[in-house]
Amino acid sequence: MRVILDCDPGIDDTYAIIWLTAAAHAGLLELDCLTTTSGNTHAEQCARNAAWVLSLCGLPIVPVAAGCPEPLVCELTTTPETHGETGLGYATAPEREVARDWDTLWCDAIERGTDDLYLVVTGPMTNLAAFAEAHPEHYAELKHITVMGGAVNYPGNTTPSAEWNFWVDPHAAAEVFATTPVPITLCSLGVTERMLLTPERLERCVGALGPLGVAKQLPEITRFYFEFHEEVGEGYRAQIHDLLAVLIGLGFVEHSGRVTTVDVEADSPLMRGTSVADLRGIWGREPNARLVTEADVEAAWGWFDWACEVHAKVAAGDAELTQLRHRRAED
Ligand code: BDR
Ligand code: CA
Repeated sequence: MRVILDCDPGIDDTYAIIWLTAAAHAGLLELDCLTTTSGNTHAEQCARNAAWVLSLCGLPIVPVAAGCPEPLVCELTTTPETHGETGLGYATAPEREVARDWDTLWCDAIERGTDDLYLVVTGPMTNLAAFAEAHPEHYAELKHITVMGGAVNYPGNTTPSAEWNFWVDPHAAAEVFATTPVPITLCSLGVTERMLLTPERLERCVGALGPLGVAKQLPEITRFYFEFHEEVGEGYRAQIHDLLAVLIGLGFVEHSGRVTTVDVEADSPLMRGTSVADLRGIWGREPNARLVTEADVEAAWGWFDWACEVHAKVAAGDAELTQLRHRRAED
């Protein structure tokens, strides 16, 4: 399995990267590239953050590139109040130049075959919509697309009816649902809000990570997110949406859902970014989504605990894991 993560780190995106790098270390998947979109912060800053997290997780070799700097139509809004001034809470990634050849990375990955290629989008869908427009033949080849976004028939977290990723670039979301070559595995707020991190669990995870670089940063990164959730009345804990979306999209966590047709309101100021699933088939349109409605959240946290142990073993130069990596390389 090869994975492209299109993300906007972002604190919960960071947890997804920590898990993906562990899975790559353990030979469960190949992390093809990380591309970023403007959302939680600017795409370039997201790319700096992604590159830093990758290096803190011992995988600086994974290509990273900044994607589209602006939503398709709307003016960019970022959310420093949720994810901190530069997207990683109270931590700050070092300055660095970032690549911008994101769509070349996607084309190269697609040209290597798409049966085993999984695209997971954990930010606004700007890159995916731009890719559909610029590279329609490559786009049509995609077979596995997962998206974290939408508050489908569910209260929003940005407006009463809209979730953040869809609200930031509603035109991109609408465009992708109108053109997707395969039903999108849609992990929306109704499910991802259940992926709750508590301070106790964080402490256990950081303990398990041991001497790894990311273990030093994670408490400072996450403290900001805990404080934000407390401020908005959710308690001193945090919803780790993007990690759950990755685990569902790649099939590591049991889940169930409904095949349906989803559409997103882009032009009405009141309903901007609102997503609707036509659960009764009233529109008579082709299904374009598999809306995830249930997921085994405890199993997902079990996978994150596993990831922390993998990272600790890699950092300690554990022989068993090294052998695992070598076997995979010989495949
Ligand atoms: C989504 O919005 C972002 O702030 C998070 O990273 C997540 O992808 C949740 O609504
Ligand atoms: Ca995100």
